[in-house]
Amino acid sequence: MRRWQSAWRLIPLMAVLAFVLTGCGLENLTALDPKGPVAEKQLSVIYLSLIVMIGVFAVVMIIYVYVLVRFRKRPGQTGIPKQVEGNHKLEIIWTVIPFILLIVIAIPTVKYTFELDKDYSKDPNALQVKVTGHQFWWEFEYMNEKITTAQDLVIPSGRTIAFHLESADVIHSFWVPTLGGKKDTNPGMTNMHYLKADKPGTYYGKCAELCGESHALMDFKVKAVTPEEFDRWITSMKTPTSAPVSAQAVEGEKIFKDKCLACHAIYNSTSKQVEGGKVGPNLVDYADRSTVAGILFNREPADLKNNLKTWLDDPQAVKPGNLMPNPKNVPGSKMEQSLDLNDQQINALVEYLAGQKQK
Ligand code: CUA
Repeated sequence: MRRWQSAWRLIPLMAVLAFVLTGCGLENLTALDPKGPVAEKQLSVIYLSLIVMIGVFAVVMIIYVYVLVRFRKRPGQTGIPKQVEGNHKLEIIWTVIPFILLIVIAIPTVKYTFELDKDYSKDPNALQVKVTGHQFWWEFEYMNEKITTAQDLVIPSGRTIAFHLESADVIHSFWVPTLGGKKDTNPGMTNMHYLKADKPGTYYGKCAELCGESHALMDFKVKAVTPEEFDRWITSMKTPTSAPVSAQAVEGEKIFKDKCLACHAIYNSTSKQVEGGKVGPNLVDYADRSTVAGILFNREPADLKNNLKTWLDDPQAVKPGNLMPNPKNVPGSKMEQSLDLNDQQINALVEYLAGQKQK
């Protein structure tokens, strides 16, 4: 009796654990709430397998319990019961039924495996996006539109997106649970993958392959917008950002050119061209993004500058192991390279970057 009571007490604990395991539905990182055809087909296979497995489990448990009760040792019974060996009819039944069940699961699984592996790289109706995984951020290049961005992947709803997955360093895995399953980005090769969002919305993505210290922080967002909004976004990304006006932002631009441009591309307010290196995230229209560094959310208007400051003060504190040199000198930091900027210069950079948006 007491054993049963202590078992009952475990139930609330199990409920809490289940809640934790589902991530409490945080940021919609779930494959159980599909928002596109790829995720829907995958979920249908998950459900079919689950139903078959629960069915098999139930039947086996019922027979098991029946046998335990029916053939239990009775009072007064002595000696070994009658030994039985082999039963052709039963053996055929329990071989044929699982075989049929496996066929039932295999048909949609094999069908969708091939269907969802389709290569859309030559499809003129599909949007071609090259995805490059970096420690610990995502680069998105719109191959035909000649636009590059990072962390926020803007896509048109209702259109197939053909992803060309690559890696700049180690193996990462590109995963947007509500839109479909994950696929690795491998160094030195291109993996094709496709997804589609039925409706506009923000779908959260994560790196799903252990890739270093900040693997768990390698987040990104997929922002699905209407096709019209998407065209507007493309145009705005191709329109040079206006030159900084405030003295502080002008100073920030100078510092950026001097210290940051070797790694980060941005609009040059004089030449009106996107210029800069490809080592770090491309910062065109940076202030329009939903986060700083992919994880510090810009929800309120004041967040962008605060987040930028948090990031620039000590990037290793936000994303340990990232490859950006410390803008400020941070004593004891494991990132040895420092740009030796002071607080005033950091504030100027924040002011400049916060102005990089379409008005
Ligand atoms: Cu990239 Cu984990």
